[in-house]
Amino acid sequence: MLESKYIKDIITKAKKLNKTIVLPEGEDERVLEAAHICTEEKIAKIIILGNKEEIGKFFDKKGWSLDKIEIIAPETSEHLAEYAELLYNLRKEKGLSKEDADKLALNYNYFGTLMIKSGHADGMVSGANHSTADTVRPALQIIKSARKDRGVSSLFIMVCNGKPYYLSDCAINIAPTAKELADIALESAETVLKLGDKPRIAMLSYSTYGSGKGEGADKVREATKLAKEALLAPEYEGKPIELDGELQADAALDKVVAKKKAPESTVAGHANTLIFPNIEAGNIGCKLMQRLGNAELYGPMLQGLNAPINDLSRGCFAEDIVGLVALTVLQTQDK
Ligand SMILES: CC(C)(COP(=O)(O)OP(=O)(O)OC[C@H]1O[C@@H](n2cnc3c(N)ncnc32)[C@H](O)[C@@H]1OP(=O)(O)O)[C@@H](O)C(=O)NCCC(=O)NCCS
Repeated sequence: MLESKYIKDIITKAKKLNKTIVLPEGEDERVLEAAHICTEEKIAKIIILGNKEEIGKFFDKKGWSLDKIEIIAPETSEHLAEYAELLYNLRKEKGLSKEDADKLALNYNYFGTLMIKSGHADGMVSGANHSTADTVRPALQIIKSARKDRGVSSLFIMVCNGKPYYLSDCAINIAPTAKELADIALESAETVLKLGDKPRIAMLSYSTYGSGKGEGADKVREATKLAKEALLAPEYEGKPIELDGELQADAALDKVVAKKKAPESTVAGHANTLIFPNIEAGNIGCKLMQRLGNAELYGPMLQGLNAPINDLSRGCFAEDIVGLVALTVLQTQDK
């Protein structure tokens, strides 16, 4: 892990930005090791949420320094009451009582998210011990979508044979409509640009340019049309974004197949950003690529939020956490 030049370059870029990332799962040794690596390598300033004594013992045992790492125990934090009040004010119209806000602010994922909302950290990486839903829910409720006209989606980065591929949405939106799918493609384009790459987006289907029939292909064709129209807006002028669809995965990735199935397309055969028609295709496709292709997988990163909060797989290694911290740092940049 962390072998690819791709992720090493991301780490180099992250080091220049000097951001603060909160890791709320201080009870997990992989998270503590990642905190140590991120600090030693100066990837980000790290705040760990957890028990100071326990974390101190672990660092002592390893012979690592805690000098540059801040540890916060939410239960005794000077900001707890302020965060609970903030949460209550943000959610009371949704039916949250003050009593429940006080309890919820103690939940480490909520506490970390409230730190970001309060400007006390720039981003958060969690999920080594939590489900995607538990990591993502506070972000959706507190940080919210950056744009009123678009929802939040997710993006995995798969480094396969040294080359990065960006996969979306494999983790959040279960059955996106054509409009939502177009928005997912546009958000993915923004994320890929922030990571310093040029998005060549394939809107994936079981059909290439009308070769297959059915509602699924119709939806992707419609999404492609909507995304292409949106890309004509002034906000995208001059941005190196290419998008095409609907394309089958082989036409998207293989130059020989692309010549036969979509010879006119500038994306077919060269795609690096793969937009799946729904979460089933995306999640299964992504895990198959990882397992059979022996690829490095990072994410899911959330995109479209007002500030970056990212999710880990529960089977992650410390190095995966380090990689995701670096990616999170890059997401803090303005579009
Ligand atoms: C993301 C997810 C967790 C949200 O579920 P949830 O908490 O039940 O969501 P709810 O529908 O109750 O919505 C909670 C809030 O998030 C908002 N929200 C939900 N999905 C959103 C999206 N895609 N974009 C922006 N906001 C969203 C809702 O509007 C709501 O906001 P509000 O409370 O301020 O009105 C859910 O879509 C999900 O479970 N997705 C699949 C996750 C998964 O299993 N992935 C596979 C493994 S990686």
